[in-house]
Amino acid sequence: MAAKARALQATGKQVVSFSMGEPDFPTPASVVEAGVRALRDGKTKYVATPGILPLREAISEKLKRDNSVLADPENIVVSCGAKHSLFNALNVLVGEGDEVIVFAPYWPTYVEQVRLAGAHPVIVPCSRVSKFVPELDRVRASLTSRTKAVIVNSPNNPTGAVFDHKTLHGLANIACEADLWLICDEIYEKLVYGPSHLSLASIDPEVAERTVTVNGCSKAFAMTGWRIGYSASPRHVAEKISNFQDQVTSGVTSFAQYGAVAAMNLPADEVEAMRIEYMARRDLIVSLLSAIEGVDVAVPEGAFYVFPSFKGHEDDLNLAIKFLERSYVATVPGSDFGANGHIRFSYATSREEIEEGVSRVASFMAMVEK
Ligand SMILES: Cc1ncc(COP(=O)(O)O)c(C=O)c1O
Repeated sequence: MAAKARALQATGKQVVSFSMGEPDFPTPASVVEAGVRALRDGKTKYVATPGILPLREAISEKLKRDNSVLADPENIVVSCGAKHSLFNALNVLVGEGDEVIVFAPYWPTYVEQVRLAGAHPVIVPCSRVSKFVPELDRVRASLTSRTKAVIVNSPNNPTGAVFDHKTLHGLANIACEADLWLICDEIYEKLVYGPSHLSLASIDPEVAERTVTVNGCSKAFAMTGWRIGYSASPRHVAEKISNFQDQVTSGVTSFAQYGAVAAMNLPADEVEAMRIEYMARRDLIVSLLSAIEGVDVAVPEGAFYVFPSFKGHEDDLNLAIKFLERSYVATVPGSDFGANGHIRFSYATSREEIEEGVSRVASFMAMVEK
């Protein structure tokens, strides 16, 4: 879809893009300044594989302050984005013959990374009726003697669901009973619009001992290109992750890590200003999409995605292609996320673009309904 959108743009078409999972805000100035200063100060050499100490200390503070997660710098490994942190965690925790529970709709990387680690993804669907939050009975029913880990992503890409605390406690109980790892991707943690985010590792020490918390700078601080992610895990796991990473990438780009230190200490109101704007965009796109006949929208409570279904258009790939080719609106078909009949719209774009793009979708839908 992205390649098609670019090809249309190259022919001069005004494509409205809802396809990117990337903040449209610039990286905060103080973070840029810290990165530039590090370059000027000659911080351009190899760094320790798990990350520079000032960054791991800043992450340790952040986890305590924001998430009530207790992790010393020795429990933290900085990687090339949360994607890399997830890849490391899966490779040290699971392997051939293991099963890993992945909730659908899912971020496609989970399924591919589980396979790359040699394990088997077991898909557990989350329904629209349960607001795309996992149902514990279904989780229990999917357990086998080979189940090794569960990947939890809240706030969620692509649905925007924020898992309620009861469900998260339930997942933690299942993990303790069945002796499973919890791999928690909290990359959208700062972008919630009502319910509060709960880090599984904060529940109690027993849960923390089986949890890898993954987060990063990309979404909350508009730093996608900096490639800074991290994991916080029990000491023996962190050591394995660091050793694994040592043979693959070594430490992450030195000066980017100094920028990330500034991000960890950014005044809360800078992130809050972005969250408020995302929330206004969420309200706008939900109201515009809901007004279209046959479109069913679950109100997302976090992240920057909305994931409506289109009645009578179960072939979502075909629908997304038509949106692009006929109306010049780029989206992502739900089947990419294991959820046919849905389309993902990212509202990490301006209100003007949202109004223009959804009005084109509405005109297209009115035309095909006739
Ligand atoms: C759920 C989820 N996790 C992780 C990532 C990747 O983040 P990073 O840029 O830190 O690798 C994304 C990016 O889209 C995402 O949607």
